[in-house]
Amino acid sequence: MKQYKIALLPGDGIGPEIMKEAVKVLKLVQERNPVAFELNEVPFGAVAYFATGDAFPEATKLACDQADAVLKGTIGLSHEESKKIPVDKQPERGALLPLRKRLNTYANFRPVYLPKELAHFSPLRPEVVGEGIDLMIIRELVGGLYFGQKERGIKNGKRFVNEMLEYDEDQIRQILIVGFETAKKRRKLLHNIHKSNVLLSSVLWNEILEEVAPSYPEVEVRHMLVDAAATALCLNPCQFDVMVMENMFGDILSDQGGGILGSLGLMPSACMGPNRKAYYEPSHGSAPDIAGQGIANPYSMIGSVAMMLDMSFGLTEEAQNLWGAMKSVFAAGFTTPDLKRGGDKLISTAAFGDKVLEALAKSPKPKV
Ligand code: NAD
Ligand code: IPM
Ligand code: MN
Repeated sequence: MKQYKIALLPGDGIGPEIMKEAVKVLKLVQERNPVAFELNEVPFGAVAYFATGDAFPEATKLACDQADAVLKGTIGLSHEESKKIPVDKQPERGALLPLRKRLNTYANFRPVYLPKELAHFSPLRPEVVGEGIDLMIIRELVGGLYFGQKERGIKNGKRFVNEMLEYDEDQIRQILIVGFETAKKRRKLLHNIHKSNVLLSSVLWNEILEEVAPSYPEVEVRHMLVDAAATALCLNPCQFDVMVMENMFGDILSDQGGGILGSLGLMPSACMGPNRKAYYEPSHGSAPDIAGQGIANPYSMIGSVAMMLDMSFGLTEEAQNLWGAMKSVFAAGFTTPDLKRGGDKLISTAAFGDKVLEALAKSPKPKV
């Protein structure tokens, strides 16, 4: 029996609500497979700040270091509530970015997936969605504009700010390799998303790409400027398979991915570091506008569990069962309110979780 330690970071807003459903799923997976999960729930985000003065307390750092994988909910407060916390201690700068840096999770996988049967969730016309949307955004996660030098001050009597988009060649190469390796396992098509017509960082990025590409002769590379890519995602998302890009570009385009699916609640993610040290989280935020109402869509969180089962624990078949279970709940016409279209039966976060459990329990157990 394999034993895995998982640090659970429910966080703020809808985080604890959707994490509850993830834990229910983990307990069922444990019953169905020769694995034992040791779950260690620790405070992270604004909730941790208000309890301890630190959004990423030492005990949480230790739990993350010791875990085989980290499962995170969502962090962050509304625009107004955020003002109660000093800028540098806010959960984004004080917890999430330090977590990414600490685990060095440089490769963020954000699948944008909508099978044909669920195409009605997309705001795009059926002929645009075609056979379904299935692309993978690979976002560099520990460099670029987010982690460059920053300064704020007064120059010539005016307030000014300077923040740098910094990369060295190794950082670029390692994420491009992830892009090529992922493309190799999928449709062998890699879209390189950049802004080399303006940004020097993209010029270096593309130079490194030319150096890496010859090792992957089977992968076709297509270049697209990031602004054009934003339009192309709406007009013809099916042209894409794997897209690789800088941190900030990936932040923005992956939320657009949620837009073309119909909800950010359909956006799970995996954040991988060296030696497969990883953490998993929904791509979206703490949704303060719906928090506490029990109506958040837990697909993004349960999907993150599926990614963890596959990528951290090698439980690939059970991960497939879990995706299938979630799909079957939607296919039976049940949805949370974010996805409601005429005729759907509205259910709560917890009811969605229960239905996923029912469906998973019915799928054949993976062979040992
Ligand atoms: P958001 O992603 O929280 O919400 C945007 C919209 O999507 C809202 O209308 C929300 O209700 C909806 N939504 C998001 N997830 C949903 C789900 N699972 N089910 C149903 N609807 C869902 O973005 P925001 O409002 O711009 O940010 C809120 C806070 O979250 C901010 O403090 C931000 O910094 C933080 N944030 C955190 C993370 C993270 O933890 N990784 C990611 C993004 C934003
Ligand atoms: C995300 C979020 C974070 C980011 C914020 C909360 C720091 O928007 O994970 O996409 O910008 O990376
Ligand atoms: Mn984001």
